[in-house]
Amino acid sequence: MQRRPLGVVTRGTTNPNRLRRVDNWIVETCGDALRAAADPLVVDLGYGATPITAVELRARLAAGVRADVRVVGLEIDPVRVAAAQPAADPPGLTFARGGFELAGLRPALVRAFNVLRQYDESEVADAWRTVTGRLAPGGLLVEGTCDELGRLGSWVLLDATGPRTLTLAAKLTTLESPAQLAERLPKALIHRNVPGERIHDLIRALDDAWQAAAGYAPFGPRQRWLESVKAVRAAGWPVLDRPRRWRHGELTFPWPAIFPTP
Ligand SMILES: C[S@@+](CC[C@H](N)C(=O)[O-])C[C@H]1O[C@@H](n2cnc3c(N)ncnc32)[C@H](O)[C@@H]1O
Repeated sequence: MQRRPLGVVTRGTTNPNRLRRVDNWIVETCGDALRAAADPLVVDLGYGATPITAVELRARLAAGVRADVRVVGLEIDPVRVAAAQPAADPPGLTFARGGFELAGLRPALVRAFNVLRQYDESEVADAWRTVTGRLAPGGLLVEGTCDELGRLGSWVLLDATGPRTLTLAAKLTTLESPAQLAERLPKALIHRNVPGERIHDLIRALDDAWQAAAGYAPFGPRQRWLESVKAVRAAGWPVLDRPRRWRHGELTFPWPAIFPTP
């Protein structure tokens, strides 16, 4: 007997190109793990009312990482699974019903975007554990949140041992201030943007640095962002990745720097 998928149906909002930022980051950051995988299986968990972001993920991974990638879009809502079938292109892209248990699959990579946002914060740890416990050896989970158009977002990279990094990402040409990122934090952090929490200190540090770098605005938002990143680093925040990623409006931090384990 097939077991019920783990989780609940939530709003299906999605948009073309909404996940372009995180997909590009996945190609760059998780590409080696996927290239090394015995089975290049990727799950797009909770693809929403239309399968467009799963279609795009497959195209980006096939072009940027390996042509034989197989993306399976899993949705907990059977109506959305049925609606996605015309977009299937087996074996590279298929759609099935499933939840956090990943429908029995053992993928090398899972992208779960804008899925946990509608859950309770207390459910995050279990959902993370359930998904990461079903990854193939060396597998990765990218779990995060973004706005409707994908201009502001953030995500956590996890492996079987737990969360490893937090990435904040913004389209610099439309960014008014880094404080806007607070509304698009992953579920694990969004209610923690309060004094006394590291994520609050980080968003404040970024925002202060952005205000202090206002003099660079005439040179464009990228220059202003790069100056802000330098200031945040100089203040002791352990920014990962190379300046090439910063130029895209991204910043990655080790998870323990953001969420220290007591
Ligand atoms: C807001 S949509 C996100 C769509 C797409 N990932 C995006 O970011 O544009 C969230 C989707 O996740 C689905 N969902 C929620 N919990 C789930 C779970 N445990 N397993 C699979 N899908 C789930 C919902 O049914 C909904 O269609």
